[in-house]
Amino acid sequence: MAKRTFICNNCGHTEPKWLGKCPQCGSWNSLEESSIENKKGSRGSVKPIQSAHIRNIQDIVEDELSRITTGSTELDRVLGGGIVPGSSVLVGGEPGIGKSTLMLQTANALADQKVLYISAEESAAQIKRRFTRLELKSTSLELLCTNHMEEVEKALQKNKPGCVILDSIQTISNQEIGAVPGTVNQIKYISHELIQWARENNGAVFIIAHVTKDGNIAGPKVLEHMVDTVLYFEEGSHDLRIIRGKKNRFGSVDELGLFTMTSKGCRQVKDPASRFLIQRENVIPAGTATAAVIEGTRPLLIEIQALTIPAKGSFNRIYSDKIEASRIARVAAILEKHVGMSFNDQDLYINIAGGIRVQEVGIDLALALALFSARSGIALPEKSCSAGELSLAGEVLQVNGLLNRCKTAAEYGMKRFYGAKEKKKIQAVEQYIGSYRLKDLISAINS
Ligand SMILES: Nc1ncnc2c1ncn2[C@@H]1O[C@H](COP(=O)(O)OP(=O)(O)O)[C@@H](O)[C@H]1O
Ligand SMILES: [Mg+2]
Repeated sequence: MAKRTFICNNCGHTEPKWLGKCPQCGSWNSLEESSIENKKGSRGSVKPIQSAHIRNIQDIVEDELSRITTGSTELDRVLGGGIVPGSSVLVGGEPGIGKSTLMLQTANALADQKVLYISAEESAAQIKRRFTRLELKSTSLELLCTNHMEEVEKALQKNKPGCVILDSIQTISNQEIGAVPGTVNQIKYISHELIQWARENNGAVFIIAHVTKDGNIAGPKVLEHMVDTVLYFEEGSHDLRIIRGKKNRFGSVDELGLFTMTSKGCRQVKDPASRFLIQRENVIPAGTATAAVIEGTRPLLIEIQALTIPAKGSFNRIYSDKIEASRIARVAAILEKHVGMSFNDQDLYINIAGGIRVQEVGIDLALALALFSARSGIALPEKSCSAGELSLAGEVLQVNGLLNRCKTAAEYGMKRFYGAKEKKKIQAVEQYIGSYRLKDLISAINS
């Protein structure tokens, strides 16, 4: 008999006995008994274990990693260059953000792969309406509308698709695991079956999952560990959609895919590098600074906006959802210590135009310049841009890909670039102003 375990529905934590409150995430009444160990293999019997051999690393021949293009360079980019046969991809995002739309477009573009689109949320007629609205033309796309994993397993055996899209993991269940879809056991079992199917058949599987308001996939974290790639949809300003890789066994996780949501579907952003710049006819206001960042392999120009006003409460607060508050506090502390500018009695509001979230270290300098500009009321020179990391000692540190950043800045009309001191002359922009110390760069702006 299998050992009894209880799994938290919220975070996936396991306990040997039932508890009213999960000791890991603190949610109440979320532990339920696991029965997954008792479940036989999906094909009705326990699968025989294949013998495994130890081999010397030198005897192993690398096979070429083939990739299948999704028909979208932005999606290919976040996947690391396209879909890897045999792999599994989790596509997460809030309801209504565009997961089904992008996946239907992808299914349409993968006509050669014999795609099976499994919908456990929408009827065939609803999907056909979307297909027509998006002006898709595939004649080979197959649909299966069911909430039962047993039906999916039968279809996989019978139809032998090359690519499977499941929309969504939280609405499908297997009777033997329990009647309710979306539980930890259901999610674990269904993903395991699909991931195994992809590996055994060199197919590809996309698993769509809803995320909760706090940004987590509703269900266990374990799903993220099981798949090869995890992609999250984020909402930018207006119709912008950003797809960010959180995990990728076959590529970089820093890449972003940029799309706009239209009635005709998810369209790739044409000019990503300048998508977040604000074109102004008049002089630039104090409190704004442009940063040249590198997300993955791509340079982007972003505008950081800062506003400082006397604190409303007895202590000051930071309001920012696109840059972590801890980074803003650190940069403000550096300004206070090394430039002599105090933010003690000020509330700080920070934003990035276009609604993109940025974590790259190279924005430190632009953040400092935006804060300095907001507090002093001195606008930064027009057509200026920066990239640099700041140390707690007030130094400006070099960042990777500086030439690439400068070239992109110059391409979009930037004349002046602030950064760390460089040994060689930077010719990619009209004027490169480099210094070891933040204080000197700020003096250069002030003068
Ligand atoms: N009939 C329609 N006309 C125009 N846009 C639509 C229509 N139906 C849905 N949309 C757009 O598609 C989005 C929903 O996309 P969808 O792929 O269903 O999201 P998800 O699968 O992430 O819940 C909506 O937010 C809306 O912008
Ligand atoms: Mg959907």
